[in-house]
Amino acid sequence: MSEPDWYEDATIYSLDVKTFNDGDGDGWGDFRGAIERLDYLDELGVDALWIRPFYPSPLRDNGYDVADYYGVDDRLGSLADFREFADRAHERGIRVITDLVFNHTSNEHEWFRRAREDPESEYHDYYLWTSHLADAHQRGNIFPEYEDGVWSYDEVADKHYFHQFYGHQPDLNVANPAVREELYDVLRFWLDRGADGFRIDAAHPMLMPKGHDATTLDETDLGDPIELFKEMRRVVEAEQSDAVLLAEADDEPEHLDYYFGDGEAFHLQFNFVMNAHLTYAVGVKDTWPLQRAEEVLPDVSGVGTWVNFLRNHDEWNLLKLPEEAFEHARGYFGDDDGDSWIFERGHRLRLADLYDGDPGRIAVAHSLLFSLPGSVALQSGDEIGMGADLSLPEREAVRTPMQWDDSPNGGFSTAAPEECYNPAVDEGPSAYDRVNVAAQRGDPDSLLSRVEALVAARDACPEIARGDYRALETDHKETRVHRFEHDGTVLLCAHNLADGYREEVVGFDVDPDTVEHVVGDGEHHVAEGGVTVELDACDYAWLRGEKR
Ligand code: NOJ
Repeated sequence: MSEPDWYEDATIYSLDVKTFNDGDGDGWGDFRGAIERLDYLDELGVDALWIRPFYPSPLRDNGYDVADYYGVDDRLGSLADFREFADRAHERGIRVITDLVFNHTSNEHEWFRRAREDPESEYHDYYLWTSHLADAHQRGNIFPEYEDGVWSYDEVADKHYFHQFYGHQPDLNVANPAVREELYDVLRFWLDRGADGFRIDAAHPMLMPKGHDATTLDETDLGDPIELFKEMRRVVEAEQSDAVLLAEADDEPEHLDYYFGDGEAFHLQFNFVMNAHLTYAVGVKDTWPLQRAEEVLPDVSGVGTWVNFLRNHDEWNLLKLPEEAFEHARGYFGDDDGDSWIFERGHRLRLADLYDGDPGRIAVAHSLLFSLPGSVALQSGDEIGMGADLSLPEREAVRTPMQWDDSPNGGFSTAAPEECYNPAVDEGPSAYDRVNVAAQRGDPDSLLSRVEALVAARDACPEIARGDYRALETDHKETRVHRFEHDGTVLLCAHNLADGYREEVVGFDVDPDTVEHVVGDGEHHVAEGGVTVELDACDYAWLRGEKR
């Protein structure tokens, strides 16, 4: 399967083993259960899976609090199950990207236990400590609703330790060469067991200046910070030449190209700027946010690849919107009680909730997503329009079990509902008896079929990842047409975000006899040098022809 450039044009499906499919009936999803659903993922047409953390963990942050980087939580399976899952995925041509959390560990990790118990131990320097809180480096905590700051007192060590997320997630001192060696070993370990790459959690916080030890209180000296990521890439590529690193770096737009390290650090990076703007644009039925995102984003061609997405397993973070739009989005998309707003920055709602469950709007959002340059990440369950359960705490609201059919627990598990890791959504418009895979499969008009068609269309259109790209002028603020040119073909992707009909006439410099309608319900009429696209509410149309 060696293909060095595969990641430049990939559809990556994000899933949490715990909530995907339960193979042994204990109420927790597991690798054996996930293996049974690989045919579904194959049919959907995805190129890679991003498997969220599955390591032993106290699960106080959904597994992003790792207690052992070398194991599998035994409720989810074993190392052998992971291996088999990766092998079965590979047989289908699907790669496996695992999630690695290197900014911090759980406070239950053996390293932290030894670090706090013995200040002389080599593990003490795996973390960041101070005895002089008043002078210590300060910054805001990333979970401001739950944590007052970035230092918490540890009774055993009788010092404060540094943490940018929850207090139970002490930051690793990644400036320490011994810590770096540990991280490289973890990368090698999972590549040896079938992983094809890694999503590196919290890459931005990893590089932030941090308080150092009690005596100097200097900022931790990371050297040239990007060197850490470059070395990680060297380690990964030495092991497997087409393995990838994907950054979760929710940084300011002007700093984002930094993470690609001129083509020597991360291969891929989530595009949080586009995420906020794209999902917002479709919701407010206006295309200005797309133009704005493209204006503020750096040009990364030749150095790295964006991974665009509509939603993920966290809150829908709106901080990248301009202030007025941020304020607007807070009320426009929220639930009536304000329960969905979290961390002073976003909504714990799923994509379908943001668009009032309208399959047409969800589909046109996917068409835009798939027609942007870069790779794509899909959030498990969004392809069928699953909704959130706001009665669950914090971001668990968007982490309910995958809805496979209308049997108990949505076909996720045969256990009693109260045994399930999270309960399946069984009430309201997105309950599993209404929204599920079985009901949508085979129905050509279903959301699932439409998303499947877009994955296939994207595969058939190398223009998107490789071609020259530009947005065309349109007559309506609700319509977006962009154009790609590659290897003698021109591809137009037209979208209507309005609630009603819109028509656009745009240039299309192709031989009319070669025009092919790739995907979408919109109609078109080709005339000399141009094309008229007729789009009903939320319609899209991708048209391709040979350049004259
Ligand atoms: C980002 C992850 O996506 C999120 O779920 C987690 O809480 C934080 N990083 C901390 O690891």
